[in-house]
Amino acid sequence: MCGIVGILGQTPVAGTIYEALKRLEYRGYDSSGVATLEDGRLTRLRARGKLVNLEKCLRETTLAGTSGIGHTRWATHGVPNETNAHPHFCGPVAVVHNGIIENFRELREEFEAQGCHFETDTDTETVAQIIALAMKDGKTPLEAVREMLGRVRGAFALGILFSGEEDLLIGARNGPPLAVGYGKGEMYLGSDAIALAPLTNSLSYLEDGDWVVMSRESVRFFDENHDEVTRPVTQTSQSAIHIDKGNYRHFMVKEIFEQPEVISHTLANYINPLDGKISIPDLDLDWNGLNRITISACGTAYIAGLVGKYWLEELAQINVDIDVASEFRYRKAPMPQDALALFISQSGETADTLAGLRHCRGHGLKIASIVNVAESTIARESDFTLPTRAGVEVGVASTKAFTCQLGVLACLAIEAGRERGVLDEARVETLLRALETLPGHIHEILRQDAQIEEIAKSLTKSRNILYLGRGTSFPIALEGALKLKEISYIHAEGYAAGELKHGPIALIDEEMPVIVVAPDDALYEKTLSNMQEVAARGGKIILISNARRCDQNANNVWSCIEIPDADTFINPILAALPVQLLAYHTAVHMGTDVDQPRNLAKSVTVE
Ligand code: AGP
Repeated sequence: MCGIVGILGQTPVAGTIYEALKRLEYRGYDSSGVATLEDGRLTRLRARGKLVNLEKCLRETTLAGTSGIGHTRWATHGVPNETNAHPHFCGPVAVVHNGIIENFRELREEFEAQGCHFETDTDTETVAQIIALAMKDGKTPLEAVREMLGRVRGAFALGILFSGEEDLLIGARNGPPLAVGYGKGEMYLGSDAIALAPLTNSLSYLEDGDWVVMSRESVRFFDENHDEVTRPVTQTSQSAIHIDKGNYRHFMVKEIFEQPEVISHTLANYINPLDGKISIPDLDLDWNGLNRITISACGTAYIAGLVGKYWLEELAQINVDIDVASEFRYRKAPMPQDALALFISQSGETADTLAGLRHCRGHGLKIASIVNVAESTIARESDFTLPTRAGVEVGVASTKAFTCQLGVLACLAIEAGRERGVLDEARVETLLRALETLPGHIHEILRQDAQIEEIAKSLTKSRNILYLGRGTSFPIALEGALKLKEISYIHAEGYAAGELKHGPIALIDEEMPVIVVAPDDALYEKTLSNMQEVAARGGKIILISNARRCDQNANNVWSCIEIPDADTFINPILAALPVQLLAYHTAVHMGTDVDQPRNLAKSVTVE
């Protein structure tokens, strides 16, 4: 998952490219670079590590060109060093790439056998080599790019510059997103609307297989058959305002504290503020003709889907199956036509999830998606889009998007239950009013931030941590474990509490903190007995529950985090806050890079 930018400008572009890359840093941040054309000659600066290292280079060395490309990298092939940083040069060609060229080894062997010398360990360099070789054989840049597109296989979004061609920028897309932005006497190319928002809000999105030939005054789109096509110009809603941390130390904690506000924004999209009724106008479904919902997503979005499964099955009595997207599309599951395929994705660009969507579309299923980026590929390829209104989520660890996804899933389950006659009006009213208490209850939990930080300090020495939960608390146990491991690098595992005795109980000792998500609901007593099994073996228990239950267990747990008394329906959303804050404070005290943890990226646009 990388970010790419290209600009044909009226003034020097290196600084503008850098600023656009900053807005794409969430896509990858292990190296970066900029190349520009000065008097027809390609020059570049590249840096290992965070984007701030490239800024230092740009301050020391001026790139004066008014045509340029830039890249921020999440390494797929080749270690993250300066040599492997993009843009990659070969002869008159400069390339930036997001994705994976799957046949790069055979291409590399073919060209090395012809005497070509490769400078890098990357798959991207083969793209530059193919184009340069074709141009050496007398082909024009456009002919050479067309030849390259016929040779490479895999996922790519490309930006390509040519020495001596000050008014030419070529882009190509097969998988990862790519957009053209229209300026005044300028043209832009970027991975998404966020990158280009300060420059323009008039965009055209390349479709899969498209390539585009740009000058400052013209844009020509070609499809996979190289036929010239037109692509609509849309006005993006993406804000040009650069997202910053405000007075928060990290984006993650800022986004945790934004949850009361963004959940109410999200719910307002589904619960009519005037009459308090549920309203999902864009979802034109015959709920009674539907016999199955198939949910597919990755990571935290998948965990949100797990909670959604419990709600849809209970409240709408509809069969739900769910799988991580990377398994789903290869499972060859039955594809009944009376099923709805539901995809959940914060970025709307996750390659595995998008591939699952296309798999279901290929089998004729209706496609719905819950996404946080309205112009994303997943949104654009869905029949129905159910937006979360979480705002831009910068922290790699998803927090506010997760609870907003749960808010949308809760509304979906209520609507399905009402339409299918499972829920009467009184029950619908109770559930909707419970959802409307979320902002206030979340505020209450956030006020415990200092106490949760104290508890987190004791976790920093742990090497392994177990999270337990039952029912809709089980996915929250999974989410707590995922949050902790991805930002603190402590190994953590979420488990169904009832499964403890079938193996994991062997792990329990005084060194093993066990975080038990056990709100005061119908399954509390069952989970309590699992907690007692842990206590009997000296396990160090942190209980997340309501005040009454925390008081009752004060003497046999290490510590407690209280969630407010509320309708048990919303407990999983409430319990998400303590596990988010525990992970955040543990990571901060361990000194890891909370917003950009090692090896990760915010949007995983490669399989
Ligand atoms: C969550 O904290 C992780 N960053 C990751 O698991 C993420 O949820 C997953 O990659 C899915 O991303 P998406 O929601 O943008 O599709």
